Amino acid sequence: MSKPISFSLVETAMLTQQIPHATTVSALRTRVRTWREEGLSVGFVPTMGALHDGHLSLVRLAKAHTDRVVASIFVNPKQFAAGEDLDTYPRTVIDDAEKLATAKCDLIFLPDNATMYPEEFDTSVRIGGPGQGLEASERPHFFHGVATVVAKLFNQVRPDVAVFGEKDYQQLLVIKKLVKDLDFPVDIIPGEIVREADGLAMSSRNAYLDADQRQRAGELNKILQRFRDRLEAGEAHGSAQTDALEEARRIFDAVDYLEARHASNLALMTAGPINAPARLLAAVRLGETRLLDNFAVAAASSADKG
Ligand code: PAF
Repeated sequence: MSKPISFSLVETAMLTQQIPHATTVSALRTRVRTWREEGLSVGFVPTMGALHDGHLSLVRLAKAHTDRVVASIFVNPKQFAAGEDLDTYPRTVIDDAEKLATAKCDLIFLPDNATMYPEEFDTSVRIGGPGQGLEASERPHFFHGVATVVAKLFNQVRPDVAVFGEKDYQQLLVIKKLVKDLDFPVDIIPGEIVREADGLAMSSRNAYLDADQRQRAGELNKILQRFRDRLEAGEAHGSAQTDALEEARRIFDAVDYLEARHASNLALMTAGPINAPARLLAAVRLGETRLLDNFAVAAASSADKG
């Protein structure tokens, strides 16, 4: 199990100064109820902390759509398998609170493990369709853990709108399916990927990269952009993918997947030219660190060649 959240007196004082926060569901609901009574709408951004500009852009997007925004920070043990980085996942709550305050977040929800998963907890949400393959092939537990915690968080916060980053594109589609299949009354808004100067998609796990790995990491988006350009120019998926894979295998320690899928449901595409909106998705490894990235691809016939 992950470390429980426990704050020192100094941390609690600093948190309290920076931004209102709730550690229990009842305190969260009291605050949200007050907003509701005032006729205010509520946006939600779930996170696992270790926040970067990508997360903050999601908070700002939520703020643009709603009157009040709740961000949760919870490192969800159910989406980590044994041997993954649950215990070493960066926990930087005071720094996160400062960043959320600057992004005008109105409340941080900081539940601990016992709040989210009391001893008798024994329910798991399994998502078919976009929840199959790609990440699920590499990490079979992952989307069950994500869907389960997000379902709980939606019931705890009861937001009008929730924002999820396109950086985790498959996760975004899994959440949309969760909402549709289980009738959650929440609108899901996608937030664009925020990139570093060399194009590397921002991720909390980028902090694990050493200098050499960090330099190589910047190549992933370039490989995907070249792959995208070839598909939009009308080349066959199969041959463009073969070249992109070869290039990626030269740079990265391993390539888990790198391919085009149908953008709306991640169904497989044929080896020929792309004739429907697609998404290029890739996961590669540098040492112990996995990098994920993705790009939209317009169907070749409708691609804007300008
Ligand atoms: O994307 C993440 O940070 C997590 O998967 C989420 C959505 C907060 C669920 O734990």
